Amino acid sequence: MKKLISLLLVVVLALSFAGCGKKSDDNLIGVAMPTQSLQRWNQDGANMKSQLEAKGYKVDLQYANNDVNTQIQQLENMITKKCKVLVIASIDGSALTEVLRKAAENDIKVIAYDRLIMNSEHVDYYATFDNFRVGQIQGEYIEEALGLKENAGPFNIELFAGSPDDNNAYFFSDGAMSVLQPYIDSGKLVVPSKQIEFTTRAIHGWDSANAQARMDNLITAYYSSGRKLDAVLSPNDSLAIGIITSLKNAGYGTADKPFPVITGQDCDKPNVIAMINGEQSMSIFKDTRTLASQVVDMVEAIMKGEEAPINDTETYHNGVKIVPSFLCEPVYADANNYKELLVDSGYYKESELQ
Ligand code: BGC
Repeated sequence: MKKLISLLLVVVLALSFAGCGKKSDDNLIGVAMPTQSLQRWNQDGANMKSQLEAKGYKVDLQYANNDVNTQIQQLENMITKKCKVLVIASIDGSALTEVLRKAAENDIKVIAYDRLIMNSEHVDYYATFDNFRVGQIQGEYIEEALGLKENAGPFNIELFAGSPDDNNAYFFSDGAMSVLQPYIDSGKLVVPSKQIEFTTRAIHGWDSANAQARMDNLITAYYSSGRKLDAVLSPNDSLAIGIITSLKNAGYGTADKPFPVITGQDCDKPNVIAMINGEQSMSIFKDTRTLASQVVDMVEAIMKGEEAPINDTETYHNGVKIVPSFLCEPVYADANNYKELLVDSGYYKESELQ
């Protein structure tokens, strides 16, 4: 009798294990995010997880501390665990060719999240905000704030760009320069450092400290004799934080030495506070809830064996093919509209912005 009971127990345990395994195999989605050090990716990850779970999926959410090898290992684990779909915000867009080949061999679909994955035919979809438009809005903001259309100028500007291993960085830069370059060509905008080429102004890893160091150098070399700095093109908020710190250390932020126009992107909390305090002029708002829900729709379509919703089949060539994309519309926030955009929409509580 005792033997029979233990045998039954073993069978029941084995069956429930098999059941568990099968269940998670059937609906497990892998979500690979680059880092927890920037607020936006924490929000992206949390939104993806909660929205997928609300639709009944299991989620393996991983952050890779901005380390490419860690991200590759995490993706390999997701493949071993038999995730059905991988949603990947890559660290180095060109470093995933091998691991995506493994995913394809295991019949796992791949969605590139926010950043395009390069050099692989195994990227099924791409969901992002319109990255060229992001840069264009930043350029237009500077154009408007300095009154470039009306005023004679010349105005002094310094230009920053994002990480060269992130395809988005080129789109942001191209978008902004599509507005600013004609003014540079006509002499209305002057770049005293002459650092206009992308490579001379790119900040590897989107690192705040590196942006701060570059701004320190620019101030010392080109602005210490009292030359006015009118604007700084910063492609995102992590760079803007470094730039603002550098400017503050150099005594900017007074009536004699006001802050230049400074752009940004992501509406991270410290940057919204900087906008309220008059240190940063604007930040692009990319509502991570919108992007996450778009990607959840893609996952659902893939799981049903259907085509996922897309609205762009021309823009994003990853070196091997054009990846079918869904582009969300970015908008900008500044001190005038942040309440409506960020607080009234429930993105932040007013109390978080103090
Ligand atoms: C994202 C930006 C972000 C940057 C740094 C880019 O790929 O599109 O929103 O600020 O990476 O993390």
